[in-house]
Amino acid sequence: MKEDDTMLICTANDYNGMSRKAANIISAQIIMKPNAVLGLATGSTPIGTYLQLINWYEKGDLDFSFVRTVNLDEYKGLDPNNLQSYAYFMKTTLFDQVNIRPVNTNIPNGLETDIDFECKRYNTVIKSLGDIDLQLLGIGTNAHIGFNEPNSAFEKETHCVKLSPNTIESNARFFENEDDVPRFAYSTGIKNIMQSKKILLIASGKSKADALYNSIFGPITPSVPASILQLHNNVTIVADEDALSIIKEKGLL
Ligand code: F6R
Repeated sequence: MKEDDTMLICTANDYNGMSRKAANIISAQIIMKPNAVLGLATGSTPIGTYLQLINWYEKGDLDFSFVRTVNLDEYKGLDPNNLQSYAYFMKTTLFDQVNIRPVNTNIPNGLETDIDFECKRYNTVIKSLGDIDLQLLGIGTNAHIGFNEPNSAFEKETHCVKLSPNTIESNARFFENEDDVPRFAYSTGIKNIMQSKKILLIASGKSKADALYNSIFGPITPSVPASILQLHNNVTIVADEDALSIIKEKGLL
């Protein structure tokens, strides 16, 4: 465990350990503030975390009835019923399995073709909820957070992103072939993320080791989007041994 004033790094042995620790932090947030606003992420990394939360809900230890959520992103052009949409992912992976009220969940509308309208609408939703109490983040192999790709301006709020070739390639594993991966997405911006009261970043596997090292110990630069988190005053990183391997090799943890 590394701790300075603002960043805590918790090591887990493996993916399951990371998932349990992350779920513990989210669970504590819900217990301490039952109507907490949670910023949520999709992708492979949070699946185990969500499974653990569902398990505690089923045991009667967690109540989502007042929880409000706002997701980071959605592919532009995908219907919420499309199996690859993030709306569908959230519904099947978490929302349908706990007692959260659908009206309290928010995801950008991938079907909205008026980009300006959708970005303004989503920003208004986030602001109307007040600050996000706890923002859960995964990290891309290129250190993106949400779909804030390298060299995107730090001061952006919700915007429409052209996905980088690296992200299209990484996410192709969820689609039948790479050509099916949407080229654009709606994403909350770095500014929205940085306005969250607390941030919980989770990472697992060797493919994230470089991104994690550069984000925590490298220079703060838009070419490494997650490096901005060094400027946030309450960040917890929960990562497994593989994701922390470069940091550990360098003796930084
Ligand atoms: C997902 C998101 C992305 C992912 C990142 C890691 O909502 O915003 O930033 O967190 O691409 O994805 P996985 O977890 O699939 O490695």
